[in-house]
Amino acid sequence: MTVTETTSYPLRFSLTPSPAARAEAEREEILADPGFGKHFTDHMVSIDWTTAAGWHDAQVIPYGPLMLDPAASVLHYAQEIFEGLKVYRHADGSLHTFRPEANARRLQRSAQRLALPELSVEDFIESLRRLVAVDGQWVPSAPETSLYIRPFMIANESFLGVRAAHKVGYYVIASPAGAYFAAGVAPVKIWLSTEYSRAGRGGTGAAKCGGNYASSLLPQVEAYENGCAQVLFLDAETGSHVDELGGMNIFFVHKDGHLSTPALTGTILEGITRQSIITLAKDRGLTVDETTITMDDWRDGIESGDITEVFACGTAAVITPISQLLGSEISIGNPDAPAGELTMSLRRELTDIQYGRTPDRHGWLTRLDA
Ligand code: PLP
Ligand code: COI
Repeated sequence: MTVTETTSYPLRFSLTPSPAARAEAEREEILADPGFGKHFTDHMVSIDWTTAAGWHDAQVIPYGPLMLDPAASVLHYAQEIFEGLKVYRHADGSLHTFRPEANARRLQRSAQRLALPELSVEDFIESLRRLVAVDGQWVPSAPETSLYIRPFMIANESFLGVRAAHKVGYYVIASPAGAYFAAGVAPVKIWLSTEYSRAGRGGTGAAKCGGNYASSLLPQVEAYENGCAQVLFLDAETGSHVDELGGMNIFFVHKDGHLSTPALTGTILEGITRQSIITLAKDRGLTVDETTITMDDWRDGIESGDITEVFACGTAAVITPISQLLGSEISIGNPDAPAGELTMSLRRELTDIQYGRTPDRHGWLTRLDA
């Protein structure tokens, strides 16, 4: 097996090509119907960190299982964070990702909150470049498809004392992706969790850490049992304000054309799609209120006709219309409500930028294959 040394600034990445890389025919079969998060490319990135040596041993290696000591602290105390971003293939074949500096900075903020080491923005973006350099053929080209990239960081010191680990691993894996929801871009129903909270004041709600998702799984089961695709969480303190969904932010479109979305109060994830939608809406001259939205506001707004559209947004979900909110004692909206006009128009504009069909006037794209 050849090991090629490559130089990058400031980390140097080595490359060990996979001896088991899939043949073109097998890859194309997967890319024809990738689903979401089911298939993985031939390689992965691995970078080690210790308190003594800092970040070192940056490698692109064959995709495969990690060796973890059973005492690795991530397995016991969930010291873990992750990111999610996509690589889009443009019509000329070139490969681009969307606002990766924002993901890099959010990973740094998550690292601070979880007492993990920060990786520089440059090393984060270089880790994406290195993976795409070797696995670029895994970026599908059909409409609405992409390569979903999942960087993550885990505490892998073998130690059962409860403190920040002295040994950490950063990895990047990639998975060809179609629509996140099985129904594609069709409106989804969401389930209101009244019994469970996602985040409280001073907690980890604004960090992208695995623990937040672990605690969302039980209400997510409830959602599925009730025919809903996602869970909506309310603020833990009053149980009356809309926070966000298990894996997406939420927006409301009002009759006069303005938008509203829950303010960033420290308990919700600072979504990059959310921020981009705010910018695109303001570019159109629309007002966006980042504010407190209560369940009463939502119900009354739908009843009076002031709220005309509701949608979810995130890297995986892009922009997905919400038709109805259901809960044990509540039903707002209509399951047959069609996708909203502004919802779909913002979705089109965002994806046109991501897929290079319209000028990238905000400089949001980073080309990864050149
Ligand atoms: N909220 C949560 C809990 C998420 O997991 C995500 C997905 O990453 C988002 C919001 C949307 O964030 P982004 O638009 O950066 O993907
Ligand atoms: C993303 O949108 O990137 C996420 O991490 C959300 C998850 C539900 C897939």
